[in-house]
Amino acid sequence: MTERLGMHTLTEGRGLLFGGDYNPEQWPEEVWAEDAELMRAAGVNLVTVGVFSWARLEPEPGKHDFGWLDRVLDLMAANGIAVDLATPTASPPPWLGHRWPETLPVDEGGHRLWYGSRNQFCPSSPVYRERALAIAGALADRYAGHPALALWHVGNELGEVCHCDVSAEAFRGWLRARYGDLGTLNEAWGTTFWSQGYGDWAEVLPPRRAPYIVNPSQRLDWWRFSSDALLGHFRAERDVLRARTPDVPVTTNFMGFFKRADYWSFAAEEDVVANDWYPEPGDPLSPARTALTHDLMRGLAGGRPWLLMEQSTSAVNWRPHNLPKPPGQLRLESLQAVARGADGLCYFQWRASRFGAERFHAAMVPHAGADTRLHAEVRAHGQELRGLAALAGEPVPARVAMVFGWENWWALEERGRPSDRLNAVDQLLAYYVPFFERGVSVDVVPPSADLSSYALVVVPNLFLVADGDAEALSAYVRGGGVLVVGPFSGVVDPRGHVRTGPFPAPLREVLGASGEEWLPAPDDRPVRCRWSGGAEFTASTWTELLRAEGAEVVAEFTEGDLAGRPAVTRHRAGPGPGEGPGEGVAWYVGTMPEPAALGALAARVLADAGVEGAVPELPPGVEAVRRGEVLFLLNHGATTVRVPLQEAAEDLLTAAPAQDAVTLAPRAVAALRRLP
Ligand code: GAL
Ligand code: ZN
Repeated sequence: MTERLGMHTLTEGRGLLFGGDYNPEQWPEEVWAEDAELMRAAGVNLVTVGVFSWARLEPEPGKHDFGWLDRVLDLMAANGIAVDLATPTASPPPWLGHRWPETLPVDEGGHRLWYGSRNQFCPSSPVYRERALAIAGALADRYAGHPALALWHVGNELGEVCHCDVSAEAFRGWLRARYGDLGTLNEAWGTTFWSQGYGDWAEVLPPRRAPYIVNPSQRLDWWRFSSDALLGHFRAERDVLRARTPDVPVTTNFMGFFKRADYWSFAAEEDVVANDWYPEPGDPLSPARTALTHDLMRGLAGGRPWLLMEQSTSAVNWRPHNLPKPPGQLRLESLQAVARGADGLCYFQWRASRFGAERFHAAMVPHAGADTRLHAEVRAHGQELRGLAALAGEPVPARVAMVFGWENWWALEERGRPSDRLNAVDQLLAYYVPFFERGVSVDVVPPSADLSSYALVVVPNLFLVADGDAEALSAYVRGGGVLVVGPFSGVVDPRGHVRTGPFPAPLREVLGASGEEWLPAPDDRPVRCRWSGGAEFTASTWTELLRAEGAEVVAEFTEGDLAGRPAVTRHRAGPGPGEGPGEGVAWYVGTMPEPAALGALAARVLADAGVEGAVPELPPGVEAVRRGEVLFLLNHGATTVRVPLQEAAEDLLTAAPAQDAVTLAPRAVAALRRLP
């Protein structure tokens, strides 16, 4: 993230951003005038234009048609609407694949993927790169200085992966840079296993479809390479744009927890963090998963505001069965993002498409037109956001951090492990939920983060850990921090090689506990455990044979071969009382406790860290989070609830005073500012 350009560049003078993807190329120009009028009435101040317009802009290689886009940008400027101008490189025109089939991506099985949809490009193809940079440069040349241009949007949801021969050559180049020589590569990949030793660089390939489990170290490097290839493409486009418009921030839209691209590395290279997010309507965990994803975006933005680039006003069209959003839901979800640090609330898309693969995706202006319940809600929400302008730039303070890294995600989920039931994002979410339910704000941080400002650091899983990161976690505890480490952590090094000795080898000392066997549990049998205080709970799926080495046993298994053995340990490993900022406590959890038990654990570690929730009593289903001076309360539940308050406040959304409590109907939101 750069400091000079950022969300503040966009919100200055505009307040919170509101708008969506605008695809006027799908409509006759008469409709554009109505669009502009409706946008103004709805308080739209930012639209994303041109995401999928390459074939319109460059109908033949090198021949440009910018006239229509000139008129769109002029129209937006005349209406005071800023433009997030996209490079159209996510969907090359048919001529690219037709004339240069090598630009089309090849899957693991060697099949080429064709045009007729979108995303059909090989991130390592020099021909694609050249053509993409050419159209990006032509756009920037033409619109540099245009009054509507406020933000650049590189491609769309960068996520392509390619196994072709060109990509293989690029992979070899990447490996040479990482390892230098073949001997080091062979060692890193452990190629003495299954006779995989490479004698010539030309033999080295991307992991292609093979008869049986592919080398996990090779695959780990492939994940790294594929992410870097996309990042390399992003950077190349960004540099073309920056060279021509140094004062216009550059972004690309993320997809939440998206496995193929290491967003920590992307965020470091862009000016604005933007996300596309479509909560699963029927899933009771959606509010928490959404909050976690928003917190990830805030983390990627280094704590600064971020942009919700795409959400849906109602149903999407790409799930098998697409539930609509009930009235009030679009507002609730949008305000949830505001509460968690978003300074822009945009939708896919402005006007519903009449044709194409997304004919049945909801939009801000539905097929039925503007005189509709849905559009009225959009308009009311856009107007309401005007009143929240003062929130722009405000931080969401958190004293708890949760560690999440892509390398760990990639390494953890390779085939051939003790259990495929332990997944990085599910594990993160399981640990996040009890904090969410208690109204405790959490920052999501990478394994290499500076942890010194946090009272509590939770590491739901860190299967792959670098020596330096393990040392930093230990140092954090020795400095007085509270650390919680989940199961199957500290297992492999960055090459994917198992660290020998009792696990989690590099954290054993600080945890004051260690293990000798990972023991997945039968699916159909809960694992019985007991807290040292006597209360019982169950866990599932995963157990470990642990011993305490200085740690106190906080919970033990009570059944079977593990009866009486530690399940959860707690080790004081920091300064003594009064010697440091805190006492320094390290917890280890060698199983997967049921949600209620994770709740009890959260309560204990929060007490160790001296951290409390945003309100003293939070009814189930209600989310509480502070942004700047404002306390947001959001009712995701199905019943009307009363939330007690500690201080008199005013609701910024209704201007109503709140004395000692607020009452929230289902889907209602309060944004409370303390009365002076
Ligand atoms: C996003 C994409 C948009 C649109 C949307 C539909 O993933 O960026 O172009 O396809 O999904 O939900
Ligand atoms: Zn390729």
